[in-house]
Amino acid sequence: MIQTIATTPFTDQKMGTAGLRRKSKVVIQPNYVENFMQSIFNVIGDLHGKTFVVGGDGRFYNDKAIQKIIKMAAANGVAKLIIGQNGFMSTPAGSNVILKNKADGGFILSASHNPGGENGDFGIKYSNASGGQIPSSISDKIYQETLNIKEYKICNIDDINLSELGTQEICGMQIEIIDPVKDYVEMMQKIFDFSAIKKLFQNGFTMRFDAMNAVTGPYAIKIFEGILGAPKGSVVNYHPLPDFGGLHPDPNMVYAKELVDFMFSEQAADFGAANDGDGDRNMILGKGFFVTPSDSLAIITDNFKLIPAYKNGIYGVAKSAATSTAVERVAQAHNIGYYEVPTGWKYFVNLMDSNRITFCGEESFGTGSSHIREKDGIWAVLFWLNIIAATGKSVEDITREHWQKYGRSYYVRFDFEGVDTAIADKLMLDLENKLSQLPGKTMEGFIIADAGAFVYNDPVDHSSTKNGLIIRFTDGSRIVYRLSGTGSSGATIRVYLERYSKTNLSADPLKMLTEIFKIAMAISEIPERTGKHKADVVT
Ligand code: G1P
Ligand code: ZN
Repeated sequence: MIQTIATTPFTDQKMGTAGLRRKSKVVIQPNYVENFMQSIFNVIGDLHGKTFVVGGDGRFYNDKAIQKIIKMAAANGVAKLIIGQNGFMSTPAGSNVILKNKADGGFILSASHNPGGENGDFGIKYSNASGGQIPSSISDKIYQETLNIKEYKICNIDDINLSELGTQEICGMQIEIIDPVKDYVEMMQKIFDFSAIKKLFQNGFTMRFDAMNAVTGPYAIKIFEGILGAPKGSVVNYHPLPDFGGLHPDPNMVYAKELVDFMFSEQAADFGAANDGDGDRNMILGKGFFVTPSDSLAIITDNFKLIPAYKNGIYGVAKSAATSTAVERVAQAHNIGYYEVPTGWKYFVNLMDSNRITFCGEESFGTGSSHIREKDGIWAVLFWLNIIAATGKSVEDITREHWQKYGRSYYVRFDFEGVDTAIADKLMLDLENKLSQLPGKTMEGFIIADAGAFVYNDPVDHSSTKNGLIIRFTDGSRIVYRLSGTGSSGATIRVYLERYSKTNLSADPLKMLTEIFKIAMAISEIPERTGKHKADVVT
């Protein structure tokens, strides 16, 4: 039944910030998934006795790709696959299943927060036994393999029924179909004070969770409405749909518009949250109030003692360089380790494995802890609910008190999308070359303290990664520039702006950053070079 099929390489199978991500139209080409998967299998080498976890966020082509992966894994000698029922599994749940079963790795079929459907994006994230996504050293090898691939192996059998729980054997490989929600829920119950949160809802607390028609729907229904007793209807858009019902499942102020409008209306609930396509991102809202992900990480870290799983102490905390410095001040106050890494969750994995950090986060609506090796959307929501239950305070009060204590980092990200790749690359190169001349200069009343590329030296594996360019001002303000590594076409230039104030705590972020934005544009020449005078997305 095992067939060896001849193939020719695709030249674009390089993984980005988080796995391979391409337009669905590209991925559905014959042999596209096959080439990529065979390249991974080839780089792993001997697959005998190995177990992998497989699932996805249910987007268009999830069902087809998963069948290919099963048949190819069997043909390549994999011992066992643990698969989410009907092919579903969120990214954080997948990480947990890998760790819990001591599996050798896993594949989550998702393009995360990118739109789905035939005209949207598809993707494959590959994790190793750490439960986190593979380091660049391995993805580089896989990319080389994709450029040389000549054949792949597949088992010639009918599609496998993934709807019934239990174990079966196909082509000499064991398949175990599991409920993707169960283990995850048990893990959350071990971390948080569910009875305190339950009481909160019994006392009339209201929430709205927007699953954005993506994978967290079933998790959220079970946890928030089922176990914690949030009123029916608290979880919306909970049916995972292949095209996410046309939504762009990125939980931010722009794309989670329905939730944002509701939370800023008269009818607003006490608490609002949304997750992305594969359940690793989160957005936190109070009544008429938005918490930036950078602040959320700082507040979570500052409140670790309120949470059962962390109350006895935490290791350090880490953030991506582009994330605001809010959490740095919290780390100093608690005298815990503090790390700044490149963008992408995989850079946190070594720090967690070596007990250097417990919490980590990114400005891109990612927050998590060492309970798994991916960011975790529902975990972040439960953390906030637990803080609220323990303190009796609102989201807004918790955040404002945090600013009182530590000062406030005003923070906004500007994305310039669909830029010609050659223009974007040249812009970044010219910008980098210019940075050394900037220190000491005054622009718009701000003095530049230092400027340069962000280079990260991993303290565990000693690899070195360059990611983005940073300009720092003498008052603590910062500009970070980088190119996105998750897009499926053209280039996106991200510009991250931050300004700190110890005393001015209630200003409008965009107003506070007016001058810094002007400086960021003048130095990079983004308007002149891209023709864009306004960012496409501001979050
Ligand atoms: C984006 C985010 C980054 C996140 C990644 C995966 O990557 O900026 O923080 O880890 O998605 O969710 P980017 O497109 O900027 O490379
Ligand atoms: Zn995601």
